[in-house]
Parts: sequence; structure tokens; C-alpha cells
Amino acid sequence: MKTNSYDFLVIGSGLAGLTAAMELSKHGHVLVASKVNASECNSFYAQGGIACVVDPEDTIEAHVADTLSTGSGLSDPKIVEQIIQDGYARIAELENLGIEFDQRKLKGKKTVYDLGQEGGHSHRRVLHAGDITGQSMMKVLIKRALENSNITIRENLMAIDLITTDWIGHPGKNRCVGAYFLDKKSDEIFPIHAACTILASGGLGKVYPYTSNPDVATGDGVAMAWRAGLPIRNMEFVQFHPTCLYHPDAKSFLISEAVRGEGAELKDIRGRSFMEDFDARGSLATRDVTARAIDFIMKKHGDPYVYLDISHRSESFLRERFPNLYAACLRYGINMATDPIPIVPAAHYSCGGVVAEVNGTTDLPGFYACGEVASTGLHGANRLASNSLLEALVCGYATATEISNVWEQFKESVSIPDWKCGEAVSSDEAVVVEHNWNEVRTAMWDYVGIVRTERRLARARARIRNLRQEIKQYYGDYLVTSDLLELRNIADVAELIIRSAEQRKESRGLHYMADHPDATENTTDTIIHDKPGGPLT
Ligand code: SIN
Repeated sequence: MKTNSYDFLVIGSGLAGLTAAMELSKHGHVLVASKVNASECNSFYAQGGIACVVDPEDTIEAHVADTLSTGSGLSDPKIVEQIIQDGYARIAELENLGIEFDQRKLKGKKTVYDLGQEGGHSHRRVLHAGDITGQSMMKVLIKRALENSNITIRENLMAIDLITTDWIGHPGKNRCVGAYFLDKKSDEIFPIHAACTILASGGLGKVYPYTSNPDVATGDGVAMAWRAGLPIRNMEFVQFHPTCLYHPDAKSFLISEAVRGEGAELKDIRGRSFMEDFDARGSLATRDVTARAIDFIMKKHGDPYVYLDISHRSESFLRERFPNLYAACLRYGINMATDPIPIVPAAHYSCGGVVAEVNGTTDLPGFYACGEVASTGLHGANRLASNSLLEALVCGYATATEISNVWEQFKESVSIPDWKCGEAVSSDEAVVVEHNWNEVRTAMWDYVGIVRTERRLARARARIRNLRQEIKQYYGDYLVTSDLLELRNIADVAELIIRSAEQRKESRGLHYMADHPDATENTTDTIIHDKPGGPLT
């Protein structure tokens, strides 16, 4: 089979991946591999916006201080400063591409950005496009990428495993030379070779049954990088977004934190405000505190949800500021202007990931990581709201810049073996895959959720180990499908989250252990660095 070869391979079509692709297209041909379709990614569903210092009364120092305080001792001050400093230049480039952020007129007719407020920010600093910021940005970026003759976007292409020279027996220092892919339409599996590979595959919310993430977020990138022997950092810090809509017909529907920013209050189902009992910032506390408080109230009273109430704001204000949310809630029979919104916390964002520099560099030459899949040191133990799009944008660009300076050294072509199916046959037991999907996710929700204990983690570890054994066996015996690949990935990521959580015998940021409720003096990262497993063919 002929190997597909490109100068640059980008795995993932979210903000980080497309930002990198646009820059790299100035230097060579880029393939962007998208698992479903280009717009199906976490970036597309981001509602709130991008945190950036644009108000003359705001300062870089204040944004840095808010990020460090939210990161609870694990954010790297130098990295935080670098990413925040670079923010505005990248925003200006997005505007040049045609992306418009909301503005408002001051009395003297001067126009300024209409900045949103979110939990943990000491200043209004969130640039937004209504309440569909991610969607507005991604539509423009995808259009620009499709118009670019040096970028090919291939959809329904799922990465299976990275290809390293050590694994294929190519001489010299180990490096990444591409990845194996499953074409979900034709069921064909083939290698794609590239001088440099960028992992920008996004998040892992689907490791949990309740998540704000779309179905594609199965932690594929972290799992592949781990299997290739890369170090993985701080996986215990999974952010649960406090306010996802609770409704039988709503799947993964986020109620943006910007709603709290405009004064919404959290109330129990009897109508009592409760956030002041947990944090002096009340309903605008950071996500870790808020999600835990909601979890506590729900468990204490046995309530299935709590309320987010913004009914004190006028209908005209809500329709203008949150047009998409207002309309969506109405479709579910909830009028935000008169009714409180039933909400529950759900898995939203992975603060940990593949260890990478701001410029995407990892331990493996020729392999780069950026966006949610990477752990740069920005988020530490908890992510400040709307810092994720900022990181994706700044690091996507920095990764492309770094690669453009070094990629010529990786141009040598290598011979990559075809994918071997061995004795694998087509499975007539898809039910096993579906059953194991549910088991992994239920164990993670019950034992590795918002509140953890040593005993719960040990239980989860035992269950996930068994499931991983079973999945490994199944993977060897049957022809791979995207469901099976995703199952393998969520199980691998579950293992990484549990092992990281077990190492942290304290409570910090998003990791709360009921049997170790306080933070210790020890502010070290959790690193898991195992030997490469190599693709299981
Ligand atoms: C939101 O709008 O609440 C989500 C944005 C984010 O995760 O920062």
C-alpha cells in the first residue's frame, strides 16, 4: 500500500490544530486529520470566550495573578506570563482573518470590546462572540483552511497510534514519523508519514458518562502519546463544569459560566442560595469550589439537580447577551427570564495531558502537542475560565513557529510497514464493546469524580485494570472499529487519571480527597512516564 506523505500532519481540527495548520501552510503541505468532521471538537462548543487583557484598566499582572491563584500552586508562573503576554497579538490575527468579537458603544460614541466576566477573574476580560464564541471562530477558521491550497482536511480519519522510528526499527535517534489511521468510511487502516506530527486532538470528557464535551472527546491523544512512551502530567485534574443543563432530552448542553458572570445565582431546589456557605465570592467562585458545593448540596438533600437563577435580569438583556442559550432553554421549556435553570456539574476539561512546552515541543523529536491534549504548565491544578481558547491559540501558533524553524532536519523519508491485522476477524459481539464503554465510564463517575477517597480510587483501579485486560484481548482478536479504538483510549486515560489521583494524597484545585481534605506543602506535578507499549497490531 502506498504511504501517504505530507510535510506536516496535524491530528485534530480544533482551534490549536487549525491555528498551527494555517501558519505551517506557509512552509509546506499540511494534512489535518479530523475524527468526524472538522467542526466536531471542543473548541466549537466553547461558549464563554477567550480571556485576554484588552481593557486599559486591566493588567497582564492581574490576569497572571488570577490564573496562578486558580491553578492552586501548580501553574508555572513563567509559562502563565508568556501565554497571557502573547494573547493580544494572536487575537488581532484572528480579527484579521474575519473573526468578530462583540463590541459596545460608550457614551462618547467610542467603541470598546464588550467584555464578559467569569469565575475567578478579578476583572471583566472575556472576549466573546455572543454566546457562541467557539462556533463563530471555528466557522471562519475552517473556511480559511478549506480555501488554503496547502492545507488538506480529511474527515472521518481516526488516529490509532503514533509511529516512531524505534518501533519500526529505523536506525538513529528515536523520532515520530507519523501515525496509523482508520478511515471510518472505508474501514481501511494505513500509515500517514510526515516530517513533523502535531497532536491537537482535544479533550477526554467522554471518560465520564456526564460531560459537556461532544462524542469525539475520548482522550485519544493522551492515550496514544502514553502508549508511545511520552510523559503525561497532572491527569488527576479533570475540571467538572458546574453548570450543565439537567433535562432528559439535553445531551452535553453547557450553560456558560458567563451566565454566572452576569449575576446568576445558584440555589437549591427549595430556592435557597447556598454558595455564600462555601466561598466569599458566592456564585462567582471558581469551578472547583462551585462544582464541589453543588455536589455537596445534591448529595446532602438527595436532590437530582440545583438551580441557576438569572430571572432578575430582563428578557431583552438575556436575549441580546445569550441569544443561543436563551433560545435553547426555551426549546426545553425553560424561559431564563422567568424560570430558574436546572443544572448539574459534568466533566468538561482536562488540565493535565502530554508534557509539552509552550511551543509544542515534547520529549519525542518530530512530535509536538498543543491545546487541551497538552500540559504546558498554564492551568496547574485548576483552569481559569476562558484560558483554554487562549492557550490553544497562543500555543498552536508557537508550535507552528517552532516547527517552521526546525522541520527540515526531519525531512528524510522512512519506510513504514503496513498495518498488520494478524489473525483478527470481524467481531459479532459489538455488545461487549458497548458494555465495557458503560463500565469504564460508570466506574469513573462513581469512584473518580468530584469527590474521591483512597478506597474509591483503589476500587476504580481494580475495575479498570480488569477491563483493560479484556479490551487488550478483544483488540488482538477482532478487527478494529472506531468504537473499539475509542474504548481502548478511554480505558487507558481512565488508568492514567486513577494512577495520578492515587499519587496525590492531598486536596488541591480540582482534585478533592475526602480522606485528605487539605493541601500539603508539596507542590510537585504528578508525572506518569512508562515505557512505550507500541501499537498492538
Ligand atoms: C463556558 O462558557 O462556561 C465554558 C468556557 C470555558 O470552559 O472556559
